[in-house]
Amino acid sequence: MKKIGIVGGTGYTGVELMRLLAHHPEVEVVAMTSRGEAGRRVDDLYPSLRGHTDLQFTAPGESDLSTCDLVFFATPNGIAMQEAPALLQQGVRVVDLAADYRLKDLGLWSRWYGMSHASPEWVERAVYGLPELYRDEIRDAQLVANPGCHVTATTLAVLPLMGMDWINHGQIVADTKSGASGAGRSAAVHTLMAEAGESVRTYAAAGHRHHPEISQTLRVIAEREIGLTFVPHLVPMVRGIESTVYLPLVGEPSELPQRLYERYYAEEPFVDVMPAGSHPETRSVRGNNLCRMAIHRPLGGSMLVVSSVIDNLVKGAAGQAVQNMNLMLGCPEATALEMIALSP
Ligand SMILES: NC(=O)c1ccc[n+]([C@@H]2O[C@H](COP(=O)([O-])OP(=O)(O)OC[C@H]3O[C@@H](n4cnc5c(N)ncnc54)[C@H](OP(=O)(O)O)[C@@H]3O)[C@@H](O)[C@H]2O)c1
Repeated sequence: MKKIGIVGGTGYTGVELMRLLAHHPEVEVVAMTSRGEAGRRVDDLYPSLRGHTDLQFTAPGESDLSTCDLVFFATPNGIAMQEAPALLQQGVRVVDLAADYRLKDLGLWSRWYGMSHASPEWVERAVYGLPELYRDEIRDAQLVANPGCHVTATTLAVLPLMGMDWINHGQIVADTKSGASGAGRSAAVHTLMAEAGESVRTYAAAGHRHHPEISQTLRVIAEREIGLTFVPHLVPMVRGIESTVYLPLVGEPSELPQRLYERYYAEEPFVDVMPAGSHPETRSVRGNNLCRMAIHRPLGGSMLVVSSVIDNLVKGAAGQAVQNMNLMLGCPEATALEMIALSP
């Protein structure tokens, strides 16, 4: 059994990692860290895990993560860049669920995250953890930067169209909606039920940190500059992200977009291109690792509209991180990720 550590085990993505890994036949979680809950049993804080783990949370400084084969950082931005290098130097492999290693441009990273990078030498070596694009590189990576949640839903929604001369790459609009768990477990007024329930609001409309991350990937794949307007919304649900992406046409598609999508994603275990005319729902992916999507051309006009849904904690975070771990450790890619969504 490979030994796995989780830094930040009390957070929503940390406990989701434990849920997914509890039944993984080839790995064992040997440490979950928490500063605030050190000494407490994991299944005391999360009774959903009773019967599946005997672990107690340990303080980060007291956990010997260097004996692990792979460590997940499920921590706020700015932690992995300080703590991961010591593990990496000892040969431990790392998957960071935060944004520390996602942007290759360090100046851009500092502008968006408001700090200077503590381990720039590892930014260059990090592989961006979107298996649909970088599967082979992920297999050999020592450090994987797991993508953001809005980013995963939006990037997968448009990948097949990138580089097509009949798409206006300068006028792409992504309108995304996220459930409250996307903000993590820390108390915040805007995610209180009395504030977020029965209400929908935009946030960071002037510019969100996921904007440069989406643009970075699309620019590489399309081999041209990207003009993206990205506006996220908080909606009254716990899990889920829906991204509606609008892509103007500047010519007739060379292939029926539906067929193009089906062909592009034909071999992908975690992308489901739904039949023409479908409207994906977040509840159809609740708790599983799928990205479901549908492509429309409203009224046969000059705009393509793609709707894509994921569970922010699964394909948007912990599930994708486990998918990356499977590739890194040589396990079948879908191991521990083949559950059916909860419905209703
Ligand atoms: N939630 C999502 O849907 C989602 C999706 C994609 C990516 N992400 C990213 O994944 C990361 C974790 O997100 P989350 O939602 O799980 O956050 P969270 O619920 O706020 O949990 C954060 C965890 O990090 C620990 N932590 C905080 N400061 C720390 C420090 N200085 N050193 C060590 N541990 C520390 C916390 O426990 P203690 O305070 O007890 O140590 C807690 O266990 C974030 O970077 C987030 O942006 C989240």
